[in-house]
Amino acid sequence: MAPRHLMSPLDFTVDETEKLLDLADSIGRDPLKYSHICDGKKIATLFYEPSTRTRLSFEAAMMNLGGKALGFHSSDSSSATKGESVADTIRIVSCYADICAMRHPKEGAPLVASIYSGIPVINAGDGGHQHPTQTLTDMLTIRSLKGRLDHLRIGLCGDLKFGRTVHSLISSLSRYPGISFVLISPEELRVPSYVREDMKSKNIPFEEVVRLDKDTMADLDILYMTRVQKERFFNEADYVRMKDFYILDRDKMEVAPPEMMVLHPLPRVNEIAVEVDSDPRAAYFRQVQYGVYARMALILTLLELDKGV
Ligand code: NCD
Repeated sequence: MAPRHLMSPLDFTVDETEKLLDLADSIGRDPLKYSHICDGKKIATLFYEPSTRTRLSFEAAMMNLGGKALGFHSSDSSSATKGESVADTIRIVSCYADICAMRHPKEGAPLVASIYSGIPVINAGDGGHQHPTQTLTDMLTIRSLKGRLDHLRIGLCGDLKFGRTVHSLISSLSRYPGISFVLISPEELRVPSYVREDMKSKNIPFEEVVRLDKDTMADLDILYMTRVQKERFFNEADYVRMKDFYILDRDKMEVAPPEMMVLHPLPRVNEIAVEVDSDPRAAYFRQVQYGVYARMALILTLLELDKGV
């Protein structure tokens, strides 16, 4: 049977997503119960682009399930430097591992890999396009902290053009009733037109604004901060001009709604001042732990080991 892959959050229906999040919840409640389900299994992490959290969190997820991890963490240390194609690499890796997570600077590279793969391929971030496992992490975080994924007003702030986490999160949340978005970015870093058109076609209420101030934050349930994606700029001067456009600090948090949770996919650069970390609404470090549970649930789902646990 052909393996199932994860390229975009929409590859799972809403029901399947909820089931996966339920599984992640029960893993979080009793991780030991799951600690041998993947005994003898291996995950390959093929990272052609730098990462700390995502790669380690996939490896930790597999190890928590009793499995092992192998892979590479930059294209310099893989046969890509010799000119090997992604298609050939995945054919080889399919003989070594049971499941694979791939990050690549080129949009669509994990999709190409999935076509040639004998094992499930997970898109762990492709260029400025999609990042579905960060979305599962974000959804699990939001559902755990707010108790629901519907009827939420979500502010997304920063680099909405190149921020793949934002594109994936918008597409996934847009399937829930009562969702509205406030898109906060400099003019040059607004969401790509395909994301905007998609929201319009689904009649999702959204506003695009430049300033992160009291009025913008009023009524937000979630503020999702993002880093300006330095590596995707063609021109250093543009990056320098934009990099400190937003800084969420204690003064801003003072005028923010008392229940507004702050999320960030990390790494954080300057966009959230360190002084905000101790605010009870700062949820970005808790989000990292949810990411491990979400990836554990994903591995079990794609390997079809989720039944009867
Ligand atoms: C994000 C990514 O790689 O897109 N990081 C992550 O996976 N946790 C966000 C970012 O790099 O800014």
